[in-house]
Amino acid sequence: MSPAPSAAPPSRLDHEARLYLAAHPLAYPLVRLLARLGPVVRVPGLGVVVNDAAVARAVLNDERFRKDGPGSPADLWTPVLGPSVLLNMEGPDHLALRRKLMPLFTPAYVSGLVADVLREPLKALDARLARGETVDLVDAMRVMAGAVICRTIGLGEVPEERARELFAEGERVVSMVSLRSRRLSDRQVAIARRVLDRIGDIAQAAYEAGDESTVMGRMRVQGLSAAEARGAAGAFFLTGTETVATFVPRLVALVCDHGTTVDGPDRLDRVIDEAMRVTTPTPVMLRSVAEPALVGEVAVRPGDRVLIATHNCARAHGPFDPSRPHPPELRHLWFGAGPHFCIGYPLALAEIRAVASTVLSHRVRVVRRRAARGVLIPTYEHLWITAS
Ligand code: HEM
Repeated sequence: MSPAPSAAPPSRLDHEARLYLAAHPLAYPLVRLLARLGPVVRVPGLGVVVNDAAVARAVLNDERFRKDGPGSPADLWTPVLGPSVLLNMEGPDHLALRRKLMPLFTPAYVSGLVADVLREPLKALDARLARGETVDLVDAMRVMAGAVICRTIGLGEVPEERARELFAEGERVVSMVSLRSRRLSDRQVAIARRVLDRIGDIAQAAYEAGDESTVMGRMRVQGLSAAEARGAAGAFFLTGTETVATFVPRLVALVCDHGTTVDGPDRLDRVIDEAMRVTTPTPVMLRSVAEPALVGEVAVRPGDRVLIATHNCARAHGPFDPSRPHPPELRHLWFGAGPHFCIGYPLALAEIRAVASTVLSHRVRVVRRRAARGVLIPTYEHLWITAS
């Protein structure tokens, strides 16, 4: 599996930076500038910003830094998703809910789910590339990630249009958040609730049907209440659609731009991990401070918020280069660390592997691309690829 040489060598290394700039024209230069000011920097109006992977990991593993206090992600998401959806919980309740949800994400189960949902779409994508068609990988990926999340929340097979629609609704909600957001406005909450209520209704119907072959049916077997299952579906929908869908085109573009060879599953995993490091689809993680503490050498107190600039932590390791191993403090930091480590990691990886191995089994090249504006997660609006 190896790509054809890139069509645009002189500017190829700048494409990722351009995506970030298109998404966050003001915040991105500021965030990158902060990386130069030290491992931990206090920024008035923003919070205490962490640019160092070892410090970030220490914060993520320290229970004094929380996701449920004032200034934490709970302020953003509790009004929309309810109080008990992992990403706004801490302590024993968080652990108990995680334990119930973990069995839904075993590698064996998610690989089966992905293989089943993506079998036909991947066959179609493979055939289009084999015929030499120019394919917009962004659109193809939206449909596929939309289809996986539809299945996860309890819809059966859905037409492409429905998958696209669902994807766009999730994107609309996620894009309400900016790097500076502390809470959503009443209007934003109302819009987000309308979207999430629809997801919740679908999820609850699947939960009540109790079919153990579905994720929602399995939640019931794991002892989740209907409210917990609704909340979990909403959280998966918000966290697990755009992250995956935006990453795959960026991965393929990086592989093409760098002329990277991808020969076999181990190498593919290595390339995926390195592309994750460079892109960091979740560029920032947020915590509130429960009691006085040190972040690196900076003293913080309750009321402060800590912004982990995952992107800065990861980019400190240098440009895209799959041959260089990651130091231990960086390991999978783009999926978090500690008690909130991404629960959907096995599902994300199964989806990414499935699509990337199909696309990169061809000698693909990028024909044209356009960066997306007004989005939270930097991405291509279009990435047209073709195989030669
Ligand atoms: C490329 C894909 C993905 C990336 C980069 C990603 C990244 C992350 C990160 C960084 C966190 C930790 C946030 C923090 O500590 O503040 C997280 C948590 C989470 N992720 Fe993912 N994620 C991805 C895909 C998914 C998928 C596919 C799902 C599920 C369908 C998912 C569901 C969740 C949930 C529910 C949490 C909260 C876990 C908790 O608080 O205990 N994610 N993700």
